[in-house]
Amino acid sequence: MTDDLRLVDITETQLDDVLRVRARSFGLLAAGAREDWVRDAVEFVHDGRFLGVVSGDEVVAAARIWDFQQWWGGRRVPMAGIAGVVVAPEYRGRGVGSLLMRGVLERSRDKGMPISALYPATTVIYRHLGYEFGGHRYRFSFQAADLRSLGGREVAVRRAGAKDAARFLELVGTAHEASRASGLLVWPESKIAEWLEDEENFAYLAEDGFVVYNWSDGDLQVDELVAHSEATARALWATVGSGASIARTVHAYLSPNDPVHLLVEHEADKQAHVQRWMLRLLDAPAAIAARGFAPGAAAEVDLLIDDPGVPAQSGRWHLSVADGTGELTPSDRSGDVLQLGSRGLAALYAGTPLAALRTAGLVTGGPVASDRLLDTAFGGAAPYMLDYF
Ligand SMILES: CC(C)(COP(=O)(O)OP(=O)(O)OC[C@H]1O[C@@H](n2cnc3c(N)ncnc32)[C@H](O)[C@@H]1OP(=O)(O)O)[C@@H](O)C(=O)NCCC(=O)NCCS
Repeated sequence: MTDDLRLVDITETQLDDVLRVRARSFGLLAAGAREDWVRDAVEFVHDGRFLGVVSGDEVVAAARIWDFQQWWGGRRVPMAGIAGVVVAPEYRGRGVGSLLMRGVLERSRDKGMPISALYPATTVIYRHLGYEFGGHRYRFSFQAADLRSLGGREVAVRRAGAKDAARFLELVGTAHEASRASGLLVWPESKIAEWLEDEENFAYLAEDGFVVYNWSDGDLQVDELVAHSEATARALWATVGSGASIARTVHAYLSPNDPVHLLVEHEADKQAHVQRWMLRLLDAPAAIAARGFAPGAAAEVDLLIDDPGVPAQSGRWHLSVADGTGELTPSDRSGDVLQLGSRGLAALYAGTPLAALRTAGLVTGGPVASDRLLDTAFGGAAPYMLDYF
């Protein structure tokens, strides 16, 4: 084993090597999944979003960067979604993963993505790199029979396909803007089209809403349901629930505030499935400028950010929030200002209450009076994602 470890861009000829490391990290890809994986991988390679670490010419680690947007306060923020972080077992525990991730963060910044998110298999390495919990992904389970009886028969619902991708994005966009949603991903239209034409998915469209669902181990599972009216919500849920003679349970990826919780007669199963994802800011002024803030909130707060991982966002800043938008400008104000590191900054951005950040030691100093202003400015519906990546 040599120690000349180097960060590299993965090439197409190295993809088999990456798959070998991947198999030792996550298991073999399911039959038929290899082709899809390679097709996606080639896109990452061509766009400079597939990085690796080599020892000599052997690939010993790899990770890829999804070019996503993520909703924050009802606005779309370019986001680097980090996935497939793998290190060969014989190279683990000696800093290879950290070397790789530092390269991934720098590349994401170079590509103009002001924030990054990932689902952690272990939080340790990602916290060292400045990530903190940003939100959740929830899967709730309902009795299919409950959904079946929700009504909405007067609403016309038709089968949808790849050609409806733009309409899906439009319906999602107006819903998330109106609810000032945070956390959800925006996939490229081509990926939405693939999802809609996948024969395993059943997609239905109404005038002001849609649903995409599939079979999951003998139950039904809703990937996404958006409805802009009560009648359409009832109609789309009832369409899924019409499978009640075969499927007893309908699982659904949802917000904990989704209206379906208020429509169904019996509450969702108490055993909801919850995953957490982590967030890191890569360019704080751009991240603040891109997101939405609570419309009525006004805040003028001095901050001292200490982020050795991204020196450009370290230092003294002034945060100004008004009329639903925010601005972070360099400041020379000294004295007792609010201090936070990268993890505190990520958690603040994600709307974590200041009281929790102070108790966890992620924020110190500054006038406590500004905590209320920050809570209001960054607060809103809890961030959640529907998808795993
Ligand atoms: C997780 C993984 C990428 C880490 O790579 P690595 O090269 O071992 O990481 P590093 O040596 O740079 O370790 C960085 C820190 O994370 C810690 N760490 C790494 N793996 C860990 C684990 N499984 N559990 C707890 N801590 C872990 C290290 O101890 C180190 O912390 P320290 O400096 O306080 O000791 C690697 O173990 C791996 O490929 N695992 C299998 C696949 C996987 O889980 N990928 C992550 C998907 S999100």
